[in-house]
Amino acid sequence: MTKQIAFSFLLFILPFASGAREGMWIPTLLEQNIAEMQAMGFELTEEDIYSVNQSSMKDAIVHFGGGCTGELISAEGLLVTNYHCGYSEIQSHSSVENDYLTNGFWASSRNEELPNKGLSVTFLISIEDVTDKVLDGTGKLASPASVDSLVAINMEIIKRDAKEKSGYDANIKPFYEGNQFYLFLTETFTDVRLVGAPPSSIGKFGGDTDNWVWPRHTGDFSLFRIYAGKDNKPANYSPENIPYAPRSFFPIDITGIEEGDFTMVFGYPGTTQQYLPSHEVKIILEDTDPDRVAIRDIKLDILERHMEKDDETRIKYAAKHASTSNSWKKWQGEIIGLKRLKTIESKKEEEKEFAQWVASDTIRNEKFGNILPGFDSLYPIFTPISKAYTYYLECIYRGTDVFRNFQFAEKVGSMASTQQEVTMANIEDLFKDYSKEVDCEVFVKLTSKYFEDLPNLANTPPFAGIISQKDVEKKLRNLYMKSFLCDKKSMLAMAANPSSAKTKQKKEADELYRLLEALKQNFSSITNIEYWDVKQQLNALQKRYVNALLELNLGKQMYPDANSTLRVSYGKVEGFEPRNGVKFRHYTTIDGIAEKAALGIDDYHIDTKLQELITKKDFGRYVATDGTLPVCFTASNHTTGGNSGSPVINAKGHLVGINFDRCWEGTMSDIDFDPEKCRNISLDMRYMLFIIEKYAGSSHLMSEMKIIE
Ligand code: ARG
Ligand code: GLU
Repeated sequence: MTKQIAFSFLLFILPFASGAREGMWIPTLLEQNIAEMQAMGFELTEEDIYSVNQSSMKDAIVHFGGGCTGELISAEGLLVTNYHCGYSEIQSHSSVENDYLTNGFWASSRNEELPNKGLSVTFLISIEDVTDKVLDGTGKLASPASVDSLVAINMEIIKRDAKEKSGYDANIKPFYEGNQFYLFLTETFTDVRLVGAPPSSIGKFGGDTDNWVWPRHTGDFSLFRIYAGKDNKPANYSPENIPYAPRSFFPIDITGIEEGDFTMVFGYPGTTQQYLPSHEVKIILEDTDPDRVAIRDIKLDILERHMEKDDETRIKYAAKHASTSNSWKKWQGEIIGLKRLKTIESKKEEEKEFAQWVASDTIRNEKFGNILPGFDSLYPIFTPISKAYTYYLECIYRGTDVFRNFQFAEKVGSMASTQQEVTMANIEDLFKDYSKEVDCEVFVKLTSKYFEDLPNLANTPPFAGIISQKDVEKKLRNLYMKSFLCDKKSMLAMAANPSSAKTKQKKEADELYRLLEALKQNFSSITNIEYWDVKQQLNALQKRYVNALLELNLGKQMYPDANSTLRVSYGKVEGFEPRNGVKFRHYTTIDGIAEKAALGIDDYHIDTKLQELITKKDFGRYVATDGTLPVCFTASNHTTGGNSGSPVINAKGHLVGINFDRCWEGTMSDIDFDPEKCRNISLDMRYMLFIIEKYAGSSHLMSEMKIIE
C-alpha cells in the first residue's frame, strides 16, 4: 500500500438520496451508512476510510491540540488546520515588533519553523468496542454507585492491558451516555512546529461580524509540521528531530466542486446533546444561554474598549477575546434556532410517544416507567442550582484572569519543592497575556453582577460586608488594585517561599484573596455539592433514557452524541434558504472580499498585497470556470465545535475543503438538527493554495503537496 489514500472506483447507480444527513458516525461502524454514502456519490469503501490492516484516511487525520482537527497534506508531516485553531500559537510568537497576527508568518525553510510548547497532535491507531468487558460483573450490582466503581476498575485494567500489549496510549470513552464503551489506541506527537499563517486580515477576515454567518470569505487556515525522532516515533522537541512520515496524507483536489457533490467531514466533533429531555432544553433556552450571553456582553465590551486603545493589549487579549466571543455569538444563534424549531414542544411530543411505548408493555414499564417521572421531579430542583452554577462559571471561575492567579496561589504552598521551576514558569504564563487595568474592570463588573443577580448571596456573612457598601464597585476596585495576586513580583516572591509564615500572613491580609476564597468556598459548599448531587441523579436517569431509546430504535440507525472522538459526517455541497424569500448560493468568491473591504469596517480590512492580487485577477491554476476565485462553500454535513480544521473530502477521497464554521441559522444543531437549515462552512482549497503560492510566495510548500488538477 502506498502512502496515499487508497482509491477503489466502485460506481453505484442508485436513486438520488436527499442531501442533508444528520449524524456523526463511528468510523468502525460505517457498514450501516456506506450504501447511502455511495448512493450520494461516494466512490470508495468503508475500508478506505478506516482500516487497521492497511493505511486509510484516518491515518491522515489528527486531533489537533485537543480541541480541533488537522490533516496531513504531505509525506513530510505537513499539516493543515484552521487559522483560528492555530491562533493562540500564532499569537504567542507575536509581539509588537514581530506582529505575526497583523503580518502573517511564513517559514522560508525548515529551520525557521517555530516550535510550540504545549501543543500536541494525536493520531488514532484503532477503535474497539469493549462494552462487554467494561460492564463485566455489573449486572449483579444494585446501586448505580457500585456499578460506576466497577466500571472504573474494569476500564483501568483494559487500558493497562491494551497499552502493555500494543505500546500505544489507550483510552476508553463512554458512548450513548455510558451504555456503550470503546477503546481507543492513539499515538501523540509533541514536536509540532508552525510553518505558515496568513495575516489576521485573511485568516480571520470578517472577524466577529461574519463569525457563524454565511456568506463568508475567511481564509481560515494555518500550516504546521509534525516532527518525530529518527525512528519516526513521537519525541519531545529537539533540533535533531526530523519531519514525520505519515502512513497516509490527503491529495488536494482543485478541479472544483459543484452543487450536489458528495462531501464527507472526518474529524473530532466535541459535544452534542441530541437526546436531552424537554426540561433540559428549557433550561438551556430560558436560562443558561441568555445568562451566559448577558455576562459575556459585559466582558466583551470591556475587552474591546481596551484592545482598541492599545496594541499591546490587542495582542495580549486576542485569543481570549476570540474564544469568549465565539461561544457568546453561537449561543445567541442557538436561542433563535431552538425557538424557531419549537424544540421544547417537539421534545414533549416525543416524550408523550415514549411514555405510551413504555406503558404498552409490563416489562418495559417496570424497566423504564420511572424515567420521565424522575425528570419531572428532579428538574424543578435542578433549575435554580444550574443557574447559580452558570453564574459562578461565567462571572468568577472563567470570568476573570485573576481567579486563575488565585487558584495558583492557593495551591502553591502544597506543591513539592521539586516543582519550584515549574511554578515560576507558570507564574510567567499567568502574566503573559494579562493586563491589570483590563482584568480589574472585568472583575469589578462581573463580580457586581454576580452579587446583583444572585441576591441570596448578599446575606451570606463573608459577602455582606462588601455588598452592603454604598459603592460596591469602588470597594471591589480598591481591593483588586491592592492585591498581591495581580502583581507578578509579589507572586514570584510568594512562590519562592511558599510555606513561610509570611506567605500565609500575606494571603490572610489580602482582601481580594479572601473574597475569592470565600466565593469559591461558598460555591463548593452550597451550589457545587447540590449541583453534583442532583446532576448525578439526572445523569443516571439520562443513561437509562438513552438505553430505552436504543431499545425503542432497535434496527434503526441512532448515532451517539459527539464526545471528541473521530467521526464521519456526510452530506452534499448545497446552499439553503435561511429565511422566507432568501436563497443562499453554496459558494463565495474573491469578489466578495473586495465588496466587503469597500465597506470600510475594521473586520473587513485587507492589506494592499491582497488588494493588488484581487485587482490583477491573477488566480493561476486556481481560477474557476467563471473566471473568478472561489473562497468558501457550504455543505450539509453535521458538524460541531472540534470539527474545525476537519478535512472536507470529495467522492474520490481527496481534500476539497477545510471545515471551519456553521451557518447562523443552524447553530442549534448540537441539540436539534434541521436538514433544511443546517450547513457547515468550509474554506475552498483553491483559495488556500492561492494564498500560499501567490500571496505568501511559499511555493516550496506546494512541491510537497499532491495536487489533483
Ligand atoms: N465559529 C467558528 C468556531 O466555532 C470560528 C471561530 C473563530 N473565528 C472568530 N471570528 N472568532 O470555532
Ligand atoms: N469553529 C468551530 C470549531 O472551532 C466549528 C464550528 C462549529 O461549531 O461547527 O470547531
